[in-house]
This record gives sequence, C-alpha cells and structure tokens, in this order.
Amino acid sequence: MNFSEQRRRFLKKLFHPFTFLGAVAAYITGKFAESGRVKSKRVIYDLSDSHLKMGEVKDLGKVFLIRDEEGLFALKAKCTHLGCKPIWNGKLFHCPCHGSEFDLEGDVVHGPAKRHLEALLIKKSGDKLIIFPDRPAPFSQRVKVD
Ligand code: FES
Repeated sequence: MNFSEQRRRFLKKLFHPFTFLGAVAAYITGKFAESGRVKSKRVIYDLSDSHLKMGEVKDLGKVFLIRDEEGLFALKAKCTHLGCKPIWNGKLFHCPCHGSEFDLEGDVVHGPAKRHLEALLIKKSGDKLIIFPDRPAPFSQRVKVD
C-alpha cells in the first residue's frame, strides 16, 4: 500500500459517520465531566459552626472568606503576580514568593502584583455558604450574616 492510499484510508476513517458521532459523544461526555468537576470544586462553609468577627479572615484552602461591615465575601487565595498562595498576617495578605501584599479587600498594597485578588461568587443556602473558586464575582458582592 503506497502513501496516498494510506492517506485516503485514514481520511475515510476520520470522516466516517461513526467516527464523527464518537467524537461528538466524547465532547459531550467531557463537558459533563468538566461541569461535575466544577461542582466538586465548590467550597462549603458551615455558618452554624463558626462566626467570623469583623475584619477576620478564614483560610479555606483555595479561598479566603472575609467579614467586613457589609457582610461576608470571598477572595481567591492566588496571587495575581504568578499564582502563589498569599498568607494573611493579621493586617495584609502577604505573598511569600515575591513579596506582593494585598489589603483586606484584596487591593494591591505592594507589587510586583498589579491586580487585586480576585473576588469570588458566594451564595448562602440555609446555614451553609457555598463559595465558587472558579467563578469571579463583582467585588461589591456580600452575603449578609447576623
Ligand atoms: S507570585 Fe505573588 S508576588 Fe509573585
């Protein structure tokens, strides 16, 4: 079998209807699996277990939960410079990699980071707070708590 015949057979298989349907099925399955992963990435915080005080920061792994006068909000625990995890030192979020610092609201105090920490979507459901680490939210979003 010469090269052009091999190529013709390959293209014939590639554009065969079953190959096409298989590719569509794989794409759809992948999309469902992807949306399942997004769901599993949610961070659940039980409001009945602990109450955050004004100005307090709770490190929940990939997110920070913060309380201010207006309520609770979440910031992504990922420095906007190169992605290291900042550490809350009681006054600022300090990035151990290159020294960027962010205030309680995630605004840059010292670079090299140029962008504020990303605010995240949060929703209250009964006594639970659901935080979506992959879904940005307007910074003004707050969840009211007692
Ligand atoms: S990754 Fe945070 S300052 Fe560079």
